[in-house]
Amino acid sequence: MMNLRAVDAIEIFSLVDNSIEVIYHLDRDDVKRPNQWFESDAQTLPLADHGFAVLVRTYAGGDVHTVLLDTGPRPDILVENARRMALDLQAVEAIVISHSHWDHHGGLLSVLDAIEKPDVSVLIHANMFGVFGVRKKDGAIEVEARAPFPTEADIRARGGVPVDSAAPVLIAGGTLLVTGEIPRLADYETGFPGRFIRADDGGWQPYDMCDERALAANVAGCGLVVLTGCGHRGIVSTARRARALTGVDRVHMMMGGFHLAGEKVEPRIPQTVADVAALAPGLLVPCHCTGFPAMMAFAQAMPGAFVANSVGNRYTVGAPRREK
Ligand SMILES: [Fe+2]
Ligand SMILES: [Fe+2]
Repeated sequence: MMNLRAVDAIEIFSLVDNSIEVIYHLDRDDVKRPNQWFESDAQTLPLADHGFAVLVRTYAGGDVHTVLLDTGPRPDILVENARRMALDLQAVEAIVISHSHWDHHGGLLSVLDAIEKPDVSVLIHANMFGVFGVRKKDGAIEVEARAPFPTEADIRARGGVPVDSAAPVLIAGGTLLVTGEIPRLADYETGFPGRFIRADDGGWQPYDMCDERALAANVAGCGLVVLTGCGHRGIVSTARRARALTGVDRVHMMMGGFHLAGEKVEPRIPQTVADVAALAPGLLVPCHCTGFPAMMAFAQAMPGAFVANSVGNRYTVGAPRREK
């Protein structure tokens, strides 16, 4: 069990996501879209792209901590969107990279450049530096064509300090939990068959996206906030992992890529929706790689909790105190 410090509030800013919506009806105190919390016009609206990144601020007894979960697909978009949304990247003390995919780490080095600090923790998993393989139709395994993760030397040259988080770890003054590896806690969340990682002996071994980790906070009076990059390990397993590690049963908010798009995973949608509904979150924000069929199913099952994300949205759980 991890000693996660309860916070008064958390704010989450959608810095990179696949879609932008600036005119739809949204009348909630806890969610503000662009135009509702900052002045935006053609020059300052954030840009949508295939990828994911959020800036997270926690508020606890006057302390404020700022971290990033993921960095989007390309070098420029996170930094540009932060500028458009007037978010101060130099306040960032840690960057959590959820897993090894390019649409989550593409902005890492340029974000470190923008932060301009010598000691920014970069929460990684050792697998990220590996070589990945995919099984071809003829059965052979070939190296997967994907943008490589930055090298440890490149990260350190920009002030990043790699921190392995295969096991759970607390960051941000103990106000945020990186879950570590997420075991299968729902039998139908069977991962990604057909992917491999190169072993030390040069051969291939099955790779089940075990490097994917999530972020969790505990907001006093509300419950857990669970944030996930692609959710390849399964959103239900992820939420159950956060509950088990913290001892907090109530899940107030779930946000991120739930990875329910594509023919291999879409059969899981009904059971996933049922198990998420059983958690009864008050705020449910499936985005990025969740896919339209699953988004529809979540919206229909939980209309009071579901929010369709727009890049630029701001989410607030609890009451931020800003004296420090
Ligand atoms: Fe992914
Ligand atoms: Fe992704």
